[in-house]
Amino acid sequence: MEKSKGTQPRAQWASSLGFILATAGSAVGLGNIWKFPGKAYEGGGAAFIIVYILIVAFLGMSIMLAEFAVGRRGQKNPAAAFEKIGHGRGGWIGKLSLITAFIILSYYSQVGGWVLKYIEGYLMESGTIYADPTGYFLGMLGSSGMPWQSAVIYPVIFLAMVVFTIIRGVEEGIERMSKILMPGLFLLLIVLTVRAVTLPGAAEGLSYLLRPDWSKLSFQMVLVALGQAFYSLSLGMAIITTYGSYVSRRENLVKHTAIICSLDTVVAIMAAFMVIPAVFAMGVQPGMGGSFAFISLAEVFRQMPMGNLFGAAFYLLLFLAALTSAISLLEGPVAYFVETFGCDRKKVTCCFGIALFALGIFYTLSQAYLPLKGIWFDGANGLIFPPFGDFMEFLTDRLMVPVGALALCLFVGWRWGASEASREIEHNGRFPLRAIWIAMVKFIAPLSIVVILIGGLVFGLA
Ligand code: PHE
Repeated sequence: MEKSKGTQPRAQWASSLGFILATAGSAVGLGNIWKFPGKAYEGGGAAFIIVYILIVAFLGMSIMLAEFAVGRRGQKNPAAAFEKIGHGRGGWIGKLSLITAFIILSYYSQVGGWVLKYIEGYLMESGTIYADPTGYFLGMLGSSGMPWQSAVIYPVIFLAMVVFTIIRGVEEGIERMSKILMPGLFLLLIVLTVRAVTLPGAAEGLSYLLRPDWSKLSFQMVLVALGQAFYSLSLGMAIITTYGSYVSRRENLVKHTAIICSLDTVVAIMAAFMVIPAVFAMGVQPGMGGSFAFISLAEVFRQMPMGNLFGAAFYLLLFLAALTSAISLLEGPVAYFVETFGCDRKKVTCCFGIALFALGIFYTLSQAYLPLKGIWFDGANGLIFPPFGDFMEFLTDRLMVPVGALALCLFVGWRWGASEASREIEHNGRFPLRAIWIAMVKFIAPLSIVVILIGGLVFGLA
């Protein structure tokens, strides 16, 4: 049972399966289902997928292991865990990651609300969506008035589900929810993928994906794959550290990390096989980001028999993926307040829910809600300030996440010491590929993150 006060024994995952599903639930999110397919398309199909798999297998797994090691050794929330291992230094890394998690969750929950709105949309008014997909999307965001549903009502429902889960604790809340939601997600994904690849005309998309186009291999493509792998594995946000602090010493971290990374990657690849063939079959241009997930796909569902049901199922899939990721983003900040200040878990979680909503609402409002958009835009001169939503994403994705991940690698590799850290990862005295892991954490991972940082900040790549 999860305890509500920091003075009581720490919570632990009740089973290996629960731990794996919870962490996979964090990893499998919007990134897998709507970002990965577009990137795989642009990156030359199988060429991108192969590069991506290599990055996950070497870099992604190494950093995830490092994060798990800090959490399990620390047996505390991320800020306290870094501080304990660093003998009083390094707590800022945990705190930075917790702030990152908070900001990301504020807008992630807004997008969760949009997804809910689209489930309703496909069930109740698919004709309106098909008639004008762009207008529907912009209308949802407030181009014609205050977007009550997408900025207020649905995000509140989404956040309430997250808050409810976190209040119930690690085992009764997160673990139990993951055990219900994740199998549902896998099932839906299989159904939708089978539907997509059996559509007449899907073969073209399939062969595009299966045939590696190596002419697309470039520095930028590798950078995109790197950024995507970090985001997809939920690295640099104190999430893996937090979940690692609930893992018992008996568990085999290397094996579990391999399973979690494989699950995440399989889901991303399946999502590509779901989206790209359907998009080819319906003659839609595959793209990236929100406009693709909300606008272009409407044409796909419009042409498909029973498209509105498949549409609703697709957004339900996105919803499940987003919910388990959002849950993982809130656990770290809550654990920090409970353990550091002895706060009541329930009260802290509710306060976070309110604060997240208060910040997040500006994300939706800054997209298309005209009264607010006017603050950021000057009609005659175009952009004065970057829209608030873009600014939040820039701050977290380009700056805070890479800095957090870089600091983590340097901390584990050099301050804690990679060979000392590797003892935490050992299982029954064994740690296969230890030497490779040490080289990764000390040299290769920090270097790659510096490249991501410079590429993202200076050249605006990826
Ligand atoms: N890993 C999630 C995804 O692929 C994204 C995420 C980001 C989850 C941040 C938690 C925290 O969408």
